[in-house]
Amino acid sequence: MANRITLEVTRYHPAHDEKPRLEAYEVPLRKEWVVLDALNYIKDHLDGSLSFRWSCRMGVCGSCGMTVNGVPKLTCATFLSDYAPGPVRVEPMKNFPVLRDLIVDTSDFLLKLAKSKPWIIRKVEKPLDEEYFQTPTQLDAYKQFSMCINCMLCYAACQVYGLDPLFSGPAAIALAQRYNLDSRDQGAGERLDILSHHEGIWGCTFVGECTKVCPNNVDPAGAIQQYKLTATMEWVKSFVLPRGAK
Ligand code: FES
Repeated sequence: MANRITLEVTRYHPAHDEKPRLEAYEVPLRKEWVVLDALNYIKDHLDGSLSFRWSCRMGVCGSCGMTVNGVPKLTCATFLSDYAPGPVRVEPMKNFPVLRDLIVDTSDFLLKLAKSKPWIIRKVEKPLDEEYFQTPTQLDAYKQFSMCINCMLCYAACQVYGLDPLFSGPAAIALAQRYNLDSRDQGAGERLDILSHHEGIWGCTFVGECTKVCPNNVDPAGAIQQYKLTATMEWVKSFVLPRGAK
């Protein structure tokens, strides 16, 4: 294995540059290095002005998402040696406005996430000295979807979101479904009113790229299909059951 590799990295400073450009940097190719290590090497040794986000370096915080050789990836969980002999192209996540270099503006996602109410909603709270018990089977019903780390790679991969920025998007819907499936939650109807429309669950065309790129195997595409089934059942029930019946 060669001991150096070239990274082609997007550079863009909106106040000075008309458009983004690629800059090439040669970095050491070490077996244990991930792409994020190479970016940190550039920042520390070659160009301190390179801007990118990261925090935990262990696939937990979800902040280091970028496009590596055209694919949305967590750069702290992507080995550099997998791209040898290079070059490796590192670009910002697609489908988001670029603030600078590899940093994107995530505010649209954060608004959509809050709108889908990904938290437990109770119509009636239990007294403080009573617990909300849950069996392992009840936990299993939603556990997979609770592994989402809000890294937004699914938005970067989603062709629907790329074409229609009003689409709620994979993670916001998957996290709504995570709470719908939680035995302690009573907010599924509220969330359905918010998400059962063309820019919500019905906007998804089930391409499935979101699921392919998820670093935690969350399967947002599966969550959305489940959600569509529930919405359809609720719609049918609204015709056949007396008003107010469940
Ligand atoms: S730095 Fe936290 S997930 Fe990569």
